[in-house]
Amino acid sequence: MALLQRSLFCSVFGLVYILLVSNLCLAADPTVSYEFHVSYITASPLGVPQQVIAVNGKFPGPRINATTNYNVIVNVFNELDEDLLLTW
Ligand SMILES: *[C@@H]1O[C@H](CO)[C@@H](O)[C@H](O)[C@H]1NC(C)=O
Repeated sequence: MALLQRSLFCSVFGLVYILLVSNLCLAADPTVSYEFHVSYITASPLGVPQQVIAVNGKFPGPRINATTNYNVIVNVFNELDEDLLLTW
């Protein structure tokens, strides 16, 4: 019985330890923040002027400079007259 209790204690303690350590690692990862103002502009990506959706007045939009495990925060301001979905 004592062995079972000790084993259970070790399992719970181990799990708590892993959770704490993994949270510390996540908090230590670098964070990059961006602000995206999404609007229409006129551009000529195909050689002919046309309305395109731009980020911060530029088409194509800005590059996100991040790598594995980075925390990326993007504040998006939809200045279009329609709904917007951003995906990566
Ligand atoms: C991307 O981020 C890395 C690390 O912060 C930096 O050294 C590098 O100059 C950045 N590259 C660009 C294109 O901003």
